[in-house]
Amino acid sequence: MNPRTPRDGPVPRLPSPVVELHDHRLAARSIRLLLKRDDLIHPDLPGNKWRKLAHNLTAAAAAGHDTLLTFGGAYSNHIAATAAAGRHYGYATIGVIRGEEHQPLNPVLAAATAHGMHLTYLDRTRYRNRADPALHTRLRAHFGRFYLLPEGGSNPLAVTGCAQLAGELLTQIPDLDLAYVPVGTGGTLAGLAAGLTGTGTAPTAPTRPRRAVGVAVLRGGFLPGEVAALQQATFGAVTTNWTVADGFHAGGYARRDRTLDTFIADFATRHGLLLDWVYVAKMMRAVFTMADDGRIPAASTVAAVITGRCETTDTGTATGTAGDAAGDTGTAGDRAPTDPHPPRHAAPDNQQ
Ligand SMILES: Cc1ncc(COP(=O)(O)O)c(C=O)c1O
Repeated sequence: MNPRTPRDGPVPRLPSPVVELHDHRLAARSIRLLLKRDDLIHPDLPGNKWRKLAHNLTAAAAAGHDTLLTFGGAYSNHIAATAAAGRHYGYATIGVIRGEEHQPLNPVLAAATAHGMHLTYLDRTRYRNRADPALHTRLRAHFGRFYLLPEGGSNPLAVTGCAQLAGELLTQIPDLDLAYVPVGTGGTLAGLAAGLTGTGTAPTAPTRPRRAVGVAVLRGGFLPGEVAALQQATFGAVTTNWTVADGFHAGGYARRDRTLDTFIADFATRHGLLLDWVYVAKMMRAVFTMADDGRIPAASTVAAVITGRCETTDTGTATGTAGDAAGDTGTAGDRAPTDPHPPRHAAPDNQQ
């Protein structure tokens, strides 16, 4: 299934590139780490945003919709991506935002409106009903017909799109053992894990067991239930090849602590990639911690999915190689840590 051709903007870059990360800490345990650069799929729809939206755009077009409506917090990547998708693929978009309106708009909401999104606000109490059909009926009475995307974009079509990520990984990294992703709502992990078993849309049935590890970026311990429910709703079954790692959320959603900041700065110095701290850095810290303490078995081949926008620094080689190697496996080397770049501080909101 392919969504209709973009009205403007680049065509998504698929399969996304894979680049090997050379780091002596991993080499000491004979662990290979490959970065799956989903952040390079599309400048406005990076990472899991494209994977989650692609099948939904197709379904919206097939059902004759011309408007997308979705929900999110004021700093939601999903709101921004839905607005961009609307602009590039020719849909009007409505963003239902949790909380009060604040002027001037923050950069995320300003970008969403620049893409043409109409914003409307629900106070936190009413926003809790975001999945309630009665609320959707009221929204339809007000805005007319629309294609509904849930908060975070995680519905069965999104999960199916994320299963295709597994298909790419199995082709690009035939000896893959483990794939890591950050977990917010669970849709990306649900699709990835199912795809690694051959469920969903993976092109070939894998010949060896592959596991997916989701790294929780928020606290609560409810994520395994969410992942299982999404797999059940999408595939009619729950796979057993995944786990959710807690203990790396640095205090909760959009929270950071000194350990995480130090990791980000050190990683940027070694590898020239400034990791998105809300999602990707928490996952990457889990990979290095679990490699070090033996939770990742020695001699494993591991993929870390870069699900969100990361910035290249001028100190390393990771992105330069990956950026030039669509669909290929490139390489990137580490450097001794010198003067770490201070991590960028993003906005302190707390939802998808
Ligand atoms: C950059 C990034 N990575 C990972 C995730 C987590 O994905 P999911 O909500 O499917 O668990 C999100 C949220 O959508 C995200 O914005």
